[in-house]
Amino acid sequence: MSNYFPEELIEEIRLSNDIVDVVSEYVKLEKRGKYYFGLCPFHAEKTPSFTVTPSMQIFNCFGCNKGGNVIHFIMNIENLDFVEAVKYLADRAGISIPDRMGENDEKAARLRQEVMEIHKVAARYFYNNLNSPSGMKAREYLKNRGILDETIRRFGLGYSLPGYDNLYKYLLDKGYDKKDILESGLVIKTERQTYIDRFRDRVMFPILDLRGNVVGFGGRVMGSSLPKYMNSPETVIYSKGKSLYALNFARDANQGSLIVVEGYMDVISLHQNGIINSVASLGTALTENQARLMRKYAEEIIIAYDADTAGQAATLRSLDLLRKIGCTVKILEIPDGKDPDEFIRNNGADAFRELISNSMTFVEYKINLLKKEVDTENTEGKIKFINKAAKILSEIDSRIEMEVYADKIAREYNISRDSLYAEILKQIDLKRNAVKLKTGNPKTNISGNNTKNIKTTKKSDNNYIELLLFAILCIDNNIYKLIKDKIDINDFTGNNREIARVVFKKLDSGGDVVTAELLNIMDTETAAQFSRIVEKECSFEDINDINRAAHDIINKLTDSKKERRKMEILKMLKNRDNMSNEEVQRLLEEFNNLVREQRVNIYKERRGNV
Ligand code: CTP
Ligand code: MN
Repeated sequence: MSNYFPEELIEEIRLSNDIVDVVSEYVKLEKRGKYYFGLCPFHAEKTPSFTVTPSMQIFNCFGCNKGGNVIHFIMNIENLDFVEAVKYLADRAGISIPDRMGENDEKAARLRQEVMEIHKVAARYFYNNLNSPSGMKAREYLKNRGILDETIRRFGLGYSLPGYDNLYKYLLDKGYDKKDILESGLVIKTERQTYIDRFRDRVMFPILDLRGNVVGFGGRVMGSSLPKYMNSPETVIYSKGKSLYALNFARDANQGSLIVVEGYMDVISLHQNGIINSVASLGTALTENQARLMRKYAEEIIIAYDADTAGQAATLRSLDLLRKIGCTVKILEIPDGKDPDEFIRNNGADAFRELISNSMTFVEYKINLLKKEVDTENTEGKIKFINKAAKILSEIDSRIEMEVYADKIAREYNISRDSLYAEILKQIDLKRNAVKLKTGNPKTNISGNNTKNIKTTKKSDNNYIELLLFAILCIDNNIYKLIKDKIDINDFTGNNREIARVVFKKLDSGGDVVTAELLNIMDTETAAQFSRIVEKECSFEDINDINRAAHDIINKLTDSKKERRKMEILKMLKNRDNMSNEEVQRLLEEFNNLVREQRVNIYKERRGNV
């Protein structure tokens, strides 16, 4: 859509603007299940048909057919073009973007590249230190902590020498510029104007971005001196709150869930034990950026923070944040106040897997905390408990789920089911009234809307089928394996060819495609059609459903390709006077083959349907 901004910058800006937050600045939204509803700001209506889906980070209006990601929303509502909308959102998120693709920008790009290279060289340097005689103490340290050589290699662990400026000198020696070295944050300028290494005599943990570039480091002392960990500062290539340690490995796990832990050693230990869908937020409480980054790769997030008070507070904050953006959250509690590293070292991978399967839903977790807080032995405590429990239960979107919990709690605490229900309903009502007052709109009903005067895509359209294919690919990137030998970029029509080019290239190079990110390259009209398809046509029950849909699409697309080729042949044959006999024969044969193939396919399809 635009070569004006680098693709990653657009995506960073999108990730930094939660669609619910942005839309809420214009529309009063009310949460219902996995959607937010509101009155569409793009056409006049009395019943809301405008939805925002936080888990997908898209919006749709089923009344006027607008839709897309947060960028399209801003384009539509502020009447901006793509570039202006991106700038607007960058500004909103406090992200500075280069003015023009001019001199400044080139300078910044050069600096980033240089700093990136310095990190790569430094990581290699630390790694070699660790494996040299002077790294003996650090090697011992890691060995004592149960870290295998293979793990050291995989995570690129290293060691920073005790001297003041070993790395600095090494980098100068390699020809790097003083200014660039300073920008990398690996070297600090002292008050006395001397240059010293930031990391000295520490075990080094390189932090990688999703492409595998080293963008920062953490360094741990081997004794008990403080601070225990040092981390890279914010630099032109690293921002702490925006990355997750080991996500480059964890996203390949593709398990639909991610486990988030606090520290470097926790993640490394888990990975070494085969729990490879784990990442670390490095320090406590997730940032919103980290949360959304996780949501990109998994729907279910399991929080496995330390059980100390700081960890507990962080768990609660992260929990609400993750729920807000549409994740299913679970909390994994480790017995005896251990952290994941200690636990798995003492008890092994199977025991940890057991903890995963016993992890609590957010309701169970909050009720558990409440139990510890309130003494339900006396009447006053009991009332307080019912009150607070009802508040927690009223947060559950699904009615059935809520009833299951309510029944369980009623039984467990020997309280009347009816009084608990009554209390929950009261809470729900309180919330609803609060929203009603704001929107002045009590009814939510998307089905009762008039949908005339709307230009929609017909389901038989190639355009529709192609967009559906993109949507399915976003849901399950593995579908690409099914299609890549059967369909190529040229089989797509119109603008979809360009989109297919981007998608195929990404998947070919081992990258991933994600719905809201893919929307970045779609114009407003395509974005609206695509979002609608994602929302309305893509609620698959299971993997088989998705595969079946993919096969149907492949058939339809190859069929229309054959149809196009047939038309081409007929057109050519009109000119047969200028052709040799053989040529005409060849074309006729091809035509007949195409017809035969199509028949076989129809037959297969029918047979498949009985
Ligand atoms: N952390 C930090 N600075 C500190 C302490 C902690 O940046 N002074 C971050 C690190 O990313 C660390 C995480 O917070 O990995 C969790 O800290 P903590 O639980 O104290 O350390 P562990 O990860 O358990 O480290 P270890 O097992 O090596 O003691
Ligand atoms: Mn630890």
